[in-house]
Amino acid sequence: MTAQSAPRLSVVVVLTALLGLALVALSEEQSKEKWTAPATEAHKKNPVEATESSLAAGQKTYLKRCAGCHGKTGNGDGPDAADLGIHPAKLSDPTIRAETDGELFWKITVGKKPMPNYATRLSPTDRWNVVNYLRTLGRR
Ligand code: HEC
Repeated sequence: MTAQSAPRLSVVVVLTALLGLALVALSEEQSKEKWTAPATEAHKKNPVEATESSLAAGQKTYLKRCAGCHGKTGNGDGPDAADLGIHPAKLSDPTIRAETDGELFWKITVGKKPMPNYATRLSPTDRWNVVNYLRTLGRR
């Protein structure tokens, strides 16, 4: 009897180990996954032109609502970031500017824990103004 059950047991052990490895790989894959907007959202056109007044309004909103985490210059070093123990995105990074207006707008709209969503906290125009302003970060 033992001669028969031993190989069966080792099969179970091996299968369990493989399952465990697969789960670890899967969760690592998920944490590495980039935050991307759905294509339809990414292609949305920005209806607000990046005029002086749009940028000024965007800057005002940014400093009031976003700089606490993302930092005044978008370096991800705001005072709240340290308190929360999080690493907010570095918005001054060129990879952010490479994203479409629609993509940034969508991310600001839906948020992602611990970042709040701004769907009701900011009007669409205010969100587009902030998108316009984000484009100037890291340029100066
Ligand atoms: C409570 C802190 C916090 C506040 C406030 C906050 N954010 Fe964030 N934000 C984050 C964190 C953390 C991430 C990274 C989320 C992730 O990728 O897991 C992030 C990500 C982003 C991204 C996505 C960057 C990328 O990878 O494409 C954008 C854009 C952004 N924030 C803009 C804003 C704007 C604009 C505001 C203000 C209206 C704001 N955030 C307010 C914490 C914050």
